[in-house]
Amino acid sequence: MITVGIEDISFASGSCVLDLKDLAQDLDVDVEKYHQGLGQDCMSVPAEDEDIVTMAAMAAAPLVARYPPGSFRTLLFATETGIDNSKSAGIYVHQLLNMSKNCRVVELKQACYSATAALQLAASYVQCHSEEKVLVIASDIARYEPRSKAEPTQGCGAIAFVIGSDPKIVRLEKPAGLYTEDVMDFWRPLYQDVGFVDGKFSAKVYLQALKACWKDLQDRFGIKAMDFQLFCYHLPFTRMAVKAHQYLLQDNLVDRDPQAELAKLEPSLVYSRQVGNCYSAAAYLGLLSLLENSHEDLTNQKLALFSYGSGCVGEILTATVMPGYQKYLHKRQHEEGLKARRLVNIEEYRRLLYTMAPKDGSPIQYPHVTPGRYRLSGIVEHKRIYETFVSAQ
Ligand code: CAA
Repeated sequence: MITVGIEDISFASGSCVLDLKDLAQDLDVDVEKYHQGLGQDCMSVPAEDEDIVTMAAMAAAPLVARYPPGSFRTLLFATETGIDNSKSAGIYVHQLLNMSKNCRVVELKQACYSATAALQLAASYVQCHSEEKVLVIASDIARYEPRSKAEPTQGCGAIAFVIGSDPKIVRLEKPAGLYTEDVMDFWRPLYQDVGFVDGKFSAKVYLQALKACWKDLQDRFGIKAMDFQLFCYHLPFTRMAVKAHQYLLQDNLVDRDPQAELAKLEPSLVYSRQVGNCYSAAAYLGLLSLLENSHEDLTNQKLALFSYGSGCVGEILTATVMPGYQKYLHKRQHEEGLKARRLVNIEEYRRLLYTMAPKDGSPIQYPHVTPGRYRLSGIVEHKRIYETFVSAQ
C-alpha cells in the first residue's frame, strides 16, 4: 500500500461580506441568536461577476502554480450549485488555469457531501497510479429563501486540494464510516435557485447520520471515537459542529474532559464563523481552519472528519496529520483574503445573492467589480464568458 493524502490545500471565497449584525437588525432578531445560537459572525457574498467557477479558480490557482505544468491529469469538481445541467464547471476552471489538455474533468453532486466522494475517488486512483496527482475542487454558494430562518446560515467559498502520494499535510487512512438514507431534509429541484429545507429535521438527520457512521466504523473496522485526537465536522453553521461533538462526548468519548475537547474543536470553526456555509467546501474549510489555527503541534494526531450531505449521505473520513505539515500551509494568504472582503449592507447583499442570471437566455454583461484575477464577464448566446486578469491580485 502506498501512502496517499493531501499534499496542498487552498481556500478562496466571494469578495464581499455581510456582517450578521445587519441581518439581525433587518429581521428584528437578537444578534446573539446568530453569534451564540448559530455560532456565526459574517457570511461571504459573491460579487456580480463572481460565481462557483471564479471562486474555484481563485482557490486552485496557487496549487496549480506550485506544481510543474502538466502535473494534473484528473480534475474532480464537487458542487451543489452547478451552473449547467450538462457541462462540468471544472472545464471552465481547467481553461482559466491554463491546465494541460491531457486531463479528465468531471463534476460530482450530492449536496454538501460530494467533495468527500471526490477525495476518496482521487485517493483510490492515486493508489493505482502513484505517480499521478489529482486536483480536487469544491465550490458552492449557499442560498435559502430571503427572510427565512435559514438566511443567516448562507455563505460561499471554494476549497482546492491536491491528492497525491507525497502527502505533506494529511495522510488519508483506509477506514471510513458510511451512511446513506433517502430523506427530505434539504433539496433543490432543477427549477429552484434556493434550497427547500426542513431546518430542525435536517439537524436531527445530521446527528443520526453521524451516529450511524461511527457505528459503521466500529462494526467494519473495530475503530472507535476514542482512537482519535482530532475531530472536524461539516459546518452548515459552527454550532452544529459543537452539538455533534457534544453528542460524541456523551455517547462515545465518555472518558474525555468535555471542556478540553470542545476547546480543541474551536480552531476548526474560526474560518467558518467568518465565511458561513459553503456546502461541499464546508467540512474542508473546517479542516484547513483546524490546521492553520491550532496552537498545538498536531503532528501524528489521528483525525476523524464527518462529511454530511442532505438527502442524505454521511461519511467519516479518517486521516493522520503529517510531520512538518505547518511548512505547507498558507495561513497569511487565507487571512488576508478574508480581511480584504468588501463589507456590503443588507440591500446590496440581497441584490448580489438573489439576482440570478436570466432564465430565458437573454444576454447579460456583468460590471467588472471583482478584485480577483478571474471574472464572469457575461452570458451571451447561452454561453458563460470568463476572463483572466494577469495584473490583478
Ligand atoms: N441568544 C442566544 N441564543 C439564542 C438566542 C439568543 N437571543 N435566540 C435563540 N438562540 C438559540 C436557540 O436556543 C437555538 O439554540 P439550540 O439549538 O442550542 O437550542 C439556536 O439559537 C437556533 O435557534 P432556533 O432553534 O430558534 O433555530 P431557527 O428556527 O432560527 O433555525 C436553523 C435554525 C434550523 C439552523 C435554520 O437556520 C436553518 O434551517 N438553516 C439551514 C439548514 C441547516 O443548516 N441545517 C443543518 C443540518 S443539514 C446540513 O448540514 C446540510 C447543509 O449544509 C444544509
